[in-house]
Parts: sequence; C-alpha cells; structure tokens
Amino acid sequence: MCGIVGFIGQEKASDVVIKGLERLEYRGYDSCGITFYNPNESKFVTNKTTGRVSKLLNENDYPDNNHLAIGHTRWATHGVANHSNTHPHYSMNDRFVIVHNGVIENHKELVFKYLPDYKFRSETDTEVIVNLIEKFSKELSVLEAIRKTISLLEGSYALLIIDTQDTDKLYAVKNKSPLLIGESDKGIILGSDVLAFVNYADNYYLLEDNSVITVEKINEKYNFEIFDTIGLKIEKPEKHPMDFVTDELDKAGFEHYMLKEISEQPAVVRKIMSEYMDGNDLKINYKVKSLFEGVNRVYILAAGTSYHAGLIGRVYFEEIAKIPTEVFIASEFAYNEPLIEPNSIFVLISQSGETADLRACLVNVREQGFKTLSITNVPTSTLAREADQTLNIYAGTEIAVASTKAYIGQIAVLAILSNCLSKQHSLDLVSEMSRAAVSMENIVDKRDYIEEVVQKTIKGDHCFYIGRGIDYFVSLEAALKLKEITYIHTDGLAAGELKHGPMALIEKDVPVIAIISQDHINNNTRSNLEEAKAREAKPLVISLDNTSKGNDEIVLMDVHRLLSPLVTIIPAQLIAYYKAIDLGVDIDKPRNLAKSATVE
Ligand code: G6P
Repeated sequence: MCGIVGFIGQEKASDVVIKGLERLEYRGYDSCGITFYNPNESKFVTNKTTGRVSKLLNENDYPDNNHLAIGHTRWATHGVANHSNTHPHYSMNDRFVIVHNGVIENHKELVFKYLPDYKFRSETDTEVIVNLIEKFSKELSVLEAIRKTISLLEGSYALLIIDTQDTDKLYAVKNKSPLLIGESDKGIILGSDVLAFVNYADNYYLLEDNSVITVEKINEKYNFEIFDTIGLKIEKPEKHPMDFVTDELDKAGFEHYMLKEISEQPAVVRKIMSEYMDGNDLKINYKVKSLFEGVNRVYILAAGTSYHAGLIGRVYFEEIAKIPTEVFIASEFAYNEPLIEPNSIFVLISQSGETADLRACLVNVREQGFKTLSITNVPTSTLAREADQTLNIYAGTEIAVASTKAYIGQIAVLAILSNCLSKQHSLDLVSEMSRAAVSMENIVDKRDYIEEVVQKTIKGDHCFYIGRGIDYFVSLEAALKLKEITYIHTDGLAAGELKHGPMALIEKDVPVIAIISQDHINNNTRSNLEEAKAREAKPLVISLDNTSKGNDEIVLMDVHRLLSPLVTIIPAQLIAYYKAIDLGVDIDKPRNLAKSATVE
C-alpha cells in the first residue's frame, strides 16, 4: 500500500506533493513525510509526522521557491509507525533520499551480502535500497547504480529518488507497485495514483513494470525519459488527458465520504444501466462475450468487499448464465491453487484494479493460458490493462476506505454480464434494476430511521449478521462494514451455522441481525433468530415487503430476489456508519486499514 508523490518544476513543490499526498491518504495513513530542497539555505529538509498529511503542512514552513520534493504516506509493513520508520529515508552518508511503495522480500539477504558495514536508522526494507544505490554510485553513474540496485531486488517497488548532489533531477522506478507520470507546462509530477495529479497535471502517462525514469531540465523545461532495466531508452507511453471529474473528490455537503458514497449508490446503478443497456439490449462488448464461448467453468478471484461481490456473482453465473462457478479469495488462490477445469475463464473483481494478491493471480493464470476478464472501477488500472478484457463498474471515485458504491457497481455489472451470457436473458433487467434503484433510494432517504435503530440495538462489543443463500453473502459484507469502521467484533454467518459454535458467544443483548430477502428460506432463518433470542440476544430483521413479518425493524421495498443484495446491504452500511458516528471514530479512514492493498 502506501502512496508516493514527487514533483520537480516551477510550482511550489512542497505544496504539490502535500496536496498529492492528501489525495493518496486512502492508501495508508499510519505516518507521512516529505523531503524538499530549500534553495535559500542550499540544503534538503525533511519533515515527518505520525499524524495525518495536513500536519505536514500546518506544522512546518516551506519557502515559496522550493522546486523539488518527494513525499510518502505510509501503511506500515516493516516496523511500527514511528518517526524513524517514516519515509523519506536517507542513505547512510545522506547522499540519496528515497520514498518507496512496495515490499522488498530479500532485504535481509541484501544487507548480509552487500551492506554488512552499513548503519541503518529504521526497521524498514526501504533503507536497504537507498544504501545499495549509495554504495554502487561510488563506482557507477547514478542511473547505473539504480539499475544495478533494482537488478538485486526481489519484490514490489515504486521508488522516487533524489540525489542530493543534483537538485535539478529526479529519478523513479516502477515494478509491480503502481506509479504514473503527470505533466504540465510547469513541471513533472510522479505518483501512485492519478488522483495525486489533480490541479497540477494536464496529461498523464501509465508506466509498465521495470521502468526506470529520469526527470530533468532540458531547454528550460522539465522533461522525463524512460529506460528499461538494461538501460535502453523506451518510447513514451500513450498520453492521457486529465479529464477528471473533480466534484467527485469533494464531500458535496456530506459530513463524510462514506455517507456521500452510500447516497450515490442508486445513481451508480442507473449509470451502469445507461452504459451497458440500450432498452432491452445489453451492450456488453462482443469481445467480452466471446471470451465465454466454450467455457465450462468460471473462477472468480477477489479480495475483501470485492470477494463478497464475487460470491453474489457466483449465484448470477450459475442461476442466470448456467455456468458452474467457483469463487476464491485471491491471496488463497495465489498459493493454494485448486485443480482447474481446462476450459475455464478467470474473472478478477477489484475496485482499485491494483490489489497485489490479484495481480499475482492474474500473472499466474495468464501464464497457464487461461482467459481473463477484470471488473474494476479504474479502467487505467493494472488489472484493467493486463486482463484479456475488462468491464468498468462506473462507480466514480470511491474515497472512503470502507467500500460501498463499488460493491453495488460490481454486483450490478455481474448481473448484467450474467444476463448477457444467458441464452434466455432470464431477467428483465431494465425494469428489475430500475426498481432496485428506487428501493435503494427509499432506504437512503429514510436513513434517520436507521440511526434510531442503531441507538436502540447496536450495543456492546460483539455483533452477528445471519442469512442464508444470497443473504448469507450479504451478511458477510454487512459484518465487514460494521467491524471495519466501528471496531466492534462482528461476524457474518450462515444462519444455520449459528448453533454449531457461534451460539456460545450469544449472551444478553448481543445484536443478531438477520437478513431475510428470500421466500424459500424465510422461516428457516427466522427459526435461527428465535434460537438466538432464546439466549437473550437482541434481534433485528432486515427484510423485503414480501418476506417481512410482524414487527420486522427494517422492511425494504420489494425487488427481484436475485437483485436483493443491491438493497439489503444499504441498511447494513448505514448501521455501520451511524454506529461509527456514535463512537466518534474516524469513519473515512479506519485504523490500521488502507483502501488499496498493493502488498501481498
Ligand atoms: C482493501 C480495502 C477493501 C477492499 C479490498 C480489495 O482491503 O480496504 O475495502 O475491498 O482492499 O480491494 P480491491 O480494490 O481489489 O477491490
């Protein structure tokens, strides 16, 4: 994870970098730091904090004429979140400064073999890189020293490097961790995500793995060049305009991004309908459709919330498209591969399109010759570019770490794709999805009521969501939402499993929330809830009009049973949100988490 930003040019570099880091805080916020060149004192200055990026700006002074800076916002992997482990890191003799996103797996071996006499100031794997560069630069040019260093590294790394002896140059490297270049008349910005470039770049470029970049002034203008690992110059990649909707980056009057994004969910469904439907015709690219020709099995791979969307995707592929489907957590599949049916396709679902576990799976299954389709929210992301085909979920930028609208987008796209692959087009998607969007809107509009329910029901340190079938899969996501933003221990359970162990944890007033949207299991789930009530649990039911009974607390407007996850998750998202408000925690940036998991 982690976010890195660097700038060289005619703007106040520290401002560009700090603003960029603020936009990248979703990648990690354990600590952050910046190094910039102060021309007034002819020296490099480094500021670090274990607080948020805003502190870097508010608690330090930056001269207006600083033109070169690199910065980092950290999700700790090696060493706790303290000052010395915070990037940027200096080489032992202070010649080079570096920021790094990624993990160097062989860093201990490298110290043993190449740097036995070096003194280290942090516990990070990153310091090894900067010291190797310093060591090799004694006999090689800086560029050669960087190349020699990366030839020894095993792992993932996006690097920005300053040579303190050359204040008009910036170096960068990309391998497996994301790094992009932004360009304007005023300078060159490099960063982990194009979000960091908003307001500072006119165009941006995506980089391939194993790229080494130099940025320097040529004819009064900063320019960049890209080399491969053996030093051959590579042609610049395609230039993309920064046609970003910056409104998406504001809270639009909401107190938190999470609530804004929850509220946007009906619009996401409608946007997806407009992108993928033309009346009753489905506009899925024929190349995507043809990938599924002759396929006997679908393997869905994903992580976190996207994995939960994948579980629902399995129901769609099997019930609608009639293709047997399996779903795997990416980090499990990567190292414990099952026996794969030969005529299979891999569908990789990822909001960011950058999750390292998934990327590892993609590389692996492509090497084995399988067909691949990615479903992401970022069409320029690594997974979108590297899979055979990709589908965009059109959810718009999601900023809150807890994913909401991307989950909805993934489910909607999976429903459309499955229907497109179905011989009978068994779902009347136009009317069913429109209806789902209205039902979603109803519950978002009644969110004050959910706040009241939370006050009455969600108490204590434990909570359970239960459900059967598709409701069980929603229970998993509902539980994830509550635990990640409130820190209340929450499990999502198959309702029938409650009695096989978890019931031992039920005591007075432990909330047990049942999701009941399917007629055929309505009574079964209710029986399981009764069993919990008999042990003094605090029950709460989320049902649809046609599955509701008696005093169900949250009853939602009816939708097609297969589309119920689009609707039943929303009260659960709101329960998590209002409980987090109640507890006064940082809703958009929950502790210890990051939005984009770019380390395995
Ligand atoms: C992180 C985020 C989750 C997300 C998961 C997978 O853990 O905090 O919200 O679901 O990564 O991310 P992806 O971008 O692949 O969907």
